Order: sequence, then structure tokens, then C-alpha cells
Amino acid sequence: MIIDSIKALRERLKGETSVGFVPTMGYLHDGHLSLIKAARKENDVVVVSIFVNPTQFAPNEDFESYPRDLERDNALAMEAGADIVFYPDVEEMYVGGYSTYVMVEGELTRKLCGASRPTHFKGVTSVVTILFNIVKPHRAYFGQKDAQQSIIIKKMVRDLHMDVDVIVCPIVRESDGLAMSSRNVYLSDEERRQALALNLSLRAAKQAVQDGESDPEKLKGQIRKKIESMPLANVDYVEVLSGYDLSDVRKMTAAAGSDKDLVLAAVAVKFGNTRLIDNMFMNGQEV
Ligand code: PAJ
Repeated sequence: MIIDSIKALRERLKGETSVGFVPTMGYLHDGHLSLIKAARKENDVVVVSIFVNPTQFAPNEDFESYPRDLERDNALAMEAGADIVFYPDVEEMYVGGYSTYVMVEGELTRKLCGASRPTHFKGVTSVVTILFNIVKPHRAYFGQKDAQQSIIIKKMVRDLHMDVDVIVCPIVRESDGLAMSSRNVYLSDEERRQALALNLSLRAAKQAVQDGESDPEKLKGQIRKKIESMPLANVDYVEVLSGYDLSDVRKMTAAAGSDKDLVLAAVAVKFGNTRLIDNMFMNGQEV
């Protein structure tokens, strides 16, 4: 069922005691569907939102050209177990004169993607707050693919005492290792081939850690070199940092005793105008 009005959605959800929520910008792929399937297992009602949120795109970014296909998305979402696809338009979400934002301050939003996209996370935390206020979910599902986004959302939920469980699900990849993304459709055949370097370089770094490498700087250099060996790749960042809170790490071990010891390697690379991100835990359990 597609619902496009906030009022109708609120009426439909009134009295529900177990609502699972998957916020998306649509053009669904198996990564999104894995979140819907996880929500299906744990909740009575599953809501998927599809909203290409203008406030998280900078003026020079791909808001206008972002791929959209509601009919296909609705069919895929239903097949994966969604009950409701919430599909508001911009006027429904941002009522005229809109001026309220929710922002996580500090390093967490300034580093990695925040450095090259300084207004991005402000748009994300604001729209997720609006969506939480509309859907009032008991559990909300996000992907590890956007590791920084998931950590920022968790921080916002903690800081504002929002009454929702945030669940982070593993990265879903194509069979050759490329992380699934709605933006992969922008890649030319040659870019698509070279984009494999993201996953391959992260896997090689993880292997190096298992073989005894403990210096984050060396890992960063190794990952960067492998990606930059692809002529069409333009590296935005390569970082190795805490997978728990994105703080700096100086030395690491192959085994992580707890979540707080997790080390994450994260990369962002442009191929032409297409910006891809990927990440991998360098120690501990694969997530
Ligand atoms: P979008 O890019 O559509 O992603 C929606 C959710 O799907 C995010 O939680 C994202 O991490 C997850 N996801 C994307 N690719 C994935 C993959 N390959 N494996 C697992 N999960 C994956 O992220 C957004 O939209 C927006 O910023 C949003 C949170 C909806 C706010 O507008």
C-alpha cells in the first residue's frame, strides 16, 4: 500500500505497538531490501519511506537526477515484506517557510563525508527526525554501507532521548564485491570495472591486519595506492578510524575484544561525477 499523506499514515498507524521503519531515498536494491526483511522479522507493521530529501544534497549534487521509480520500488518493497510505502512529496514534508533543523555537532559530522559535504548530515538528521515524528517507529533500520550516517543517527537518538531502537544491518554487495548503491547505475562499464578497487583494497587491508599490520597510517597508504592505480578513480578520502565512534586510532590489533575496539577503514572515491563510498571492519566480526 502506498500512502502519500502524513495524516493518512498517522491514522493507519494509530495504536500499533510494534512498528519497524526503513527510511530510504528509493531506487531500491538488495541492500535496502535486506533492511526491510530484517524489519519484517521483528515487527508487526513495516513502513518503508521513499523520499529523495532535498536538504541533504548540496546545490551542485545529484538531487534532480537521482534515480526514481516508484512502481518498481513499491513492488520490491512489498515482496520483501513491507506493509506500507510512505511516499510524501517535498511540499508534504517541508511545509512552506520551513526553518527547523536537527544537527549533530562536532567531529562526527565534520570528518569523512562531512568534509566534502558540509551540509549533508544536517539534512539527514533533520529529515530522519521528521520521519521519526511522523512514523513513530519502535525500531528503525539503517545500513552499515553508510557507516558514518548510522553512527550519527545513533548519537542523535541518544542525545535527544528518542524512543526508538536503531538497528544497523550489514553491507550487501554485488557478487563481485561492489557495495550495492542506487548510484551504481551512473557508472559506465569501465568505471564499474575500476570501482571494484574499493572493495578489493579494503579486503587486502583486512588481510594485512590479519597478517600482523597494526599501523593505521600504513593501511591507509596501502588502500589509497590500490585505488589510485585505477586511472578513472579520484580519491576523496581514505580513513582508518574507530568503528565505534569514528575517533582516531593509533594502533590496532587483529582481534577486537569489544565493539569499542572495532577499527573501520572507510573510503569515498569519485568516478567522473559519481561518488561511491565503502567501508569494512578491519578486525573483529564481519559486519
Ligand atoms: P538511501 O541511500 O536510499 O539508503 C537507505 C538505507 O539503505 C540506508 O540506511 C543505507 O545505509 C542502506 N543501504 C544502502 N545501500 C546498502 C547496502 N549496499 N547494504 C546495506 N544497506 C544499504 O541513506 C539514505 O538513503 C538517506 O540518507 C536517508 C537515511 C533515507 C535520509 O534521507
